[in-house]
Amino acid sequence: MPASSKNVPRHIAIIMDGNGRWAKGRGLPRIKGHEAGAQAVRECVEGCGELKVEYLTLYAFSAENWQRPKTEVIALMRLLEKFLREKTPELIEKNVRLQAIGRLTDLPASSQQQLHKTIEQTAGNTGLTLILALSYGGRLEIIDGIKSLLRAIELGHIDRAMIDVEMFSKHLYTRYYPDPDLLIRTSGEMRLSNFLLWQTSYTEMYITPKLWPDFTKKDLVAAVEEFGRRQRRYGVVL
Ligand code: FPP
Repeated sequence: MPASSKNVPRHIAIIMDGNGRWAKGRGLPRIKGHEAGAQAVRECVEGCGELKVEYLTLYAFSAENWQRPKTEVIALMRLLEKFLREKTPELIEKNVRLQAIGRLTDLPASSQQQLHKTIEQTAGNTGLTLILALSYGGRLEIIDGIKSLLRAIELGHIDRAMIDVEMFSKHLYTRYYPDPDLLIRTSGEMRLSNFLLWQTSYTEMYITPKLWPDFTKKDLVAAVEEFGRRQRRYGVVL
């Protein structure tokens, strides 16, 4: 793979957008776009493993996505379960560890069961950590973080004077992972759409007009190479 390893992001986050438009362009039902999107997920996970990216977070289902037509929501949940059921052996073979963030208890019981099964079965893997954001909303995460912090204060585990950026980060869903270095969004939209609001403060953004089902390993490498050319300044003069 051509991207040189020294400037490979440790953590890539992706807003996988454009499945619906991909299907519409072909006169297909929206779910066919999501199915094609699941194939792109497979290829992207493989690519990240080969590039030695450590963490990949995918925005698979937002807290707002529950408002989509019921048939689409059900189809997406089924697709998630099918993907996890069928791909778990491949995740194990490729040494990928699955994790999930979001209000996971909002998911149907069968999706939660399959999710936890795959998480358990891949827990010992030491390669790429694949994090699925499910029923995830950045603002909800911050609210949940505040509640968790208040609970810790009430229990006397911490004092309010101890609250700082690092401490608050430890109360978010993402507490075990570093912040994303690179955020990719497909289908050309220039929005964050309530994804990882806190964690993307200094994340480099890469927006491509390609629709998610058309996003290939080559596109991933192009994004990583562009990242390698960026100079990150974190608000200071270098
Ligand atoms: C956005 O496209 C995509 C989603 C809301 C769902 C993402 C799901 C997948 C890529 C497939 C399943 C995922 C896994 C992890 C197996 P959109 O429907 O908003 O597209 P549009 O903006 O063109 O309508």
